[in-house]
Amino acid sequence: MEITVILSQENDTLPKAELLARLKTLEICPDILNEYPGVVELEVDCDKEKVMELGLHLGYTHEILLTIDKTTPDDLSESIEKISWKDIIDDTFKVRVKRMGNGEVDKDKIERNIGGYIKQDCQMPVSLDNAAHTIKLVYTNPKTVTNEFKEERVVGYNKVIITKLLIEQDKRHFFDNKPHKRPYFHPGSMSPKLALCMVNLAHVKEGDIVLDPFCGTGGILIEAGEFNTTLIASDLEKCMYEGTKLNLAHEGFTDFKVYWEDVRKLEIDETVDAVAMDPPYGISTTLGGEDTKKLYTEALIAIEKHLKDDGHICMASPHYIDMNEVVKNTPLKILEQHAIRMHKSLTRIITVLAKK
Ligand SMILES: C[S@@+](CC[C@H](N)C(=O)[O-])C[C@H]1O[C@@H](n2cnc3c(N)ncnc32)[C@H](O)[C@@H]1O
Repeated sequence: MEITVILSQENDTLPKAELLARLKTLEICPDILNEYPGVVELEVDCDKEKVMELGLHLGYTHEILLTIDKTTPDDLSESIEKISWKDIIDDTFKVRVKRMGNGEVDKDKIERNIGGYIKQDCQMPVSLDNAAHTIKLVYTNPKTVTNEFKEERVVGYNKVIITKLLIEQDKRHFFDNKPHKRPYFHPGSMSPKLALCMVNLAHVKEGDIVLDPFCGTGGILIEAGEFNTTLIASDLEKCMYEGTKLNLAHEGFTDFKVYWEDVRKLEIDETVDAVAMDPPYGISTTLGGEDTKKLYTEALIAIEKHLKDDGHICMASPHYIDMNEVVKNTPLKILEQHAIRMHKSLTRIITVLAKK
């Protein structure tokens, strides 16, 4: 089946990388048909149920849509009339225009006109508040003009993808899971969205054993737990060890174990499928001024011993640490890297590693 995925545009590479990692974890083989800013068109070799599963746990994917047809803004009405809407809509529905960029589109008029036509064709009522189906017209492939100063401006679109909404991100999840709402909070807690993305980049799937050896308040494992996994946490600080226990239990998880250990001498009973971690950076009191790079190398050497042969590690680090240097003397290799600009003086690098 053909799907259109609407990605967050807050980062250039992470949203697509997360989507591809999750597809791989679910053993869905995608063919990338087209890509535009914030939009990926895919052919996938699976059924709707599996696509719904795909959409359930993604940090940087906003919507997954079933592709019905593709056309141009000029040919939209003609294309809409060729579709047998009775086969697609069996209950209340609404039509929504989604603009990917700043091109001008008369949204209200298009929604009204296309909605009117579809209503006649499928004989189903429109419901703006509680529609069972949402038909989304995705305006993409921006049409640009360049002015005399060589500045580009989006004026319209070259393409409209006619789709039906399959699944959209539940924004409440990230809102409800904000770190300060947990029983134990510490300012260094990672945002739930990035934590989930890292869990996906570590290829976590249902039934896995997942380790965060720098667990802090447990933010990464709280996201990993949503996949019905066994959670293994560890931290050097007693308060973090206690705090993570409190936070994981508060989320309703029971299948977890928390250790109070220095990662460099990590001793856990489990061999894990995946590791997602956010080690400290800079000269913090916790590090006691010790060289961050050295800590990272020693941590990776210790963690690798507890990782299954086909396991993945996803780790965050600051831009001023050369991860190639860190990894050089470990039995690990870098698979991919992504950058997230946090503020003027800090960019976080997200690195995915596997055994050599
Ligand atoms: C950036 S914080 C992790 C935040 C966490 N991801 C969260 O959401 O709360 C880094 C953590 O690493 C821990 N840490 C520092 N050095 C460590 C070491 N050598 N072994 C294990 N944990 C260590 C710190 O106590 C701190 O809790």
